[in-house]
Amino acid sequence: MKILFWLPQADASTWLAGLRHALPGAELREWQPGDTAPADYAIVWHPPRELFAAPRGLCAVFNLGAGVDAILALEREHPGTLPQDALLVRLEDSGMAPQMAEYVQHAVLRYLRRFDEYALQQARREWHVLAPHPRESFTVGVLGLGVLGAQVAQAVAALGVPVRGFSRSAKTIDGIETFSGELRGPQFNAFLDDVNVLVNLLPATPDTENVLNAATFDKLARGAYLVNVARGTHLVEQDLLDALKHGTLAAATLDVFYTEPLPPEHAFWREPRITITPHSSALTLREEAISQIADKIEALSRGKTVSGVVHIQRGY
Ligand code: NAP
Ligand code: GLV
Repeated sequence: MKILFWLPQADASTWLAGLRHALPGAELREWQPGDTAPADYAIVWHPPRELFAAPRGLCAVFNLGAGVDAILALEREHPGTLPQDALLVRLEDSGMAPQMAEYVQHAVLRYLRRFDEYALQQARREWHVLAPHPRESFTVGVLGLGVLGAQVAQAVAALGVPVRGFSRSAKTIDGIETFSGELRGPQFNAFLDDVNVLVNLLPATPDTENVLNAATFDKLARGAYLVNVARGTHLVEQDLLDALKHGTLAAATLDVFYTEPLPPEHAFWREPRITITPHSSALTLREEAISQIADKIEALSRGKTVSGVVHIQRGY
């Protein structure tokens, strides 16, 4: 079995050693420009289009992350890039959900207890006790109830705040009030109504692009908070700055950006009510990712089906 590997800006040798250990007998190689030789599987993150240029006979392409937007953007810009008969398989949790849950819990607690405002007060050397927001009505809305969103919603509910979730298809999740349907439809509006913290865990698709916009912010409780841990393309950046200026939103925690790394001159760096992290809310963990992918490669080689297969037309 031949496997191609591509992970920019990382130590490929450690990954290759781990994969060789998990898949003894497989012939693994790091893809190099000009390599057009056959391969059964590809394991990639943000691959260049050239990696798919040769007809290699790939059965499956494994994405080294949960979001497949970068690969599907290649396909949208250059239809036919992805090999027609190959499955596209993404990572499912593989250690990301606990990291994401911690990150979002931290942001929710910080806003609930108004630590963001204490930080601003500290910078001005001001001493004022602020009443915490009432926990029983501090509603958190999680956009996207997939592998990560469902676990994040439950982790936030464990803090004792009311939690709602929104997805395309109907879901039942213990302790979560669920809504489903079309983004921008009546159920979406009902979901947003009076939400105090909006957490975004949608995949980046043509349908979800720009969903975090002025019209969405206007439907939340006045002075709500935004936590975007999904993708920068979900957010209309100027609408966030305007919403902060007008008090529609009180603050935002952003892990993902339209342009990454966030350019030094970007206005977000100068807005003290925006908290910035460098796309680090949930990192791909090497051992967990290798183990999940190796199990799936073994299953596929035995003719079995696997979970996590991306629906290309749907975009996630
Ligand atoms: P997932 O399992 O595919 O879940 C996606 C959820 O979004 C599903 O509940 C889906 O609804 C819902 N959804 C998709 N399109 C929708 C639409 N148009 N309207 C309403 N709901 C829609 O994905 P995941 O594994 O939870 O990951 C979510 C995203 O997190 C990834 O795509 C990635 O961009 C991001 N992420 C970020 C980081 C980071 O470090 N910042 C790390 C990992 C992942 P259905 O359930 O009805 O299909
Ligand atoms: C990270 O952003 C991922 O999609 O896994």
